[in-house]
Amino acid sequence: MPLVEDVNPWTGKPEQVWEPDGDWYRMKAKPKRVLIACERSGKVREAFNRLGHDATSCDLEPTDIPGKHHQGDVLPLLSDDWDLVLAFPPCTHLASSGARWFKEKREDGRQEAAINFFMAFTKLDHIPQVAIENPIGIMSSQFRKPDQIVQPWEFGHGETKATCLWLKGLPLLRSTKVVDGREERIHRMAPSPDRSKKRSETYSGIAMAMAQQWGKA
Ligand SMILES: C[S@@+](CC[C@H](N)C(=O)[O-])C[C@H]1O[C@@H](n2cnc3c(N)ncnc32)[C@H](O)[C@@H]1O
Repeated sequence: MPLVEDVNPWTGKPEQVWEPDGDWYRMKAKPKRVLIACERSGKVREAFNRLGHDATSCDLEPTDIPGKHHQGDVLPLLSDDWDLVLAFPPCTHLASSGARWFKEKREDGRQEAAINFFMAFTKLDHIPQVAIENPIGIMSSQFRKPDQIVQPWEFGHGETKATCLWLKGLPLLRSTKVVDGREERIHRMAPSPDRSKKRSETYSGIAMAMAQQWGKA
């Protein structure tokens, strides 16, 4: 039995997809139009697309894995009618791990620019579902406390990296596979020119959980 799509005659977009379940059909999660803002790895984009969603990533850098990617500034894309926006804004001037440089960064305006960029994702009133990801840092006081803090060891990776999530219209992310191992990610990585890039890549277990749980939320 094939998948059946109910297409909205005005927009031409699928409203609902039905998948075979024995001799019957059950409702499949409605495909969402998703923007993955500030993602070059393609991890979250591909997790959503594998589940049948229409996800586009956007970053100033090219994408590491081929796929639907917009290379450039993400801010102009935010006025579009996405169902869901997941944002991974740069944390270099916001994370507590860089606190010793905060004075200098406040004075030269780098921190204010980073705060303003982060805050752009909190003002998407036309988008029903938004998640913003960042490590522990000043946004807990500049914006508000995160809705939850997740760890990679809750999603199948035996490492620690406290990751804050600020959510709008989305449920808390549920852990999918709690494993042993509590080493800090950065300590596992040998020095290399792309160490900081690798360090900021989303864990595949977290990407999968986001797609599986938020794709049908
Ligand atoms: C903390 S990293 C997030 C990486 C992400 N977790 C991944 O797996 O690729 C922040 C990213 O924001 C991107 N970025 C910074 N300013 C941007 C902008 N104005 N528009 C789009 N991307 C931007 C950077 O190039 C960087 O890749």
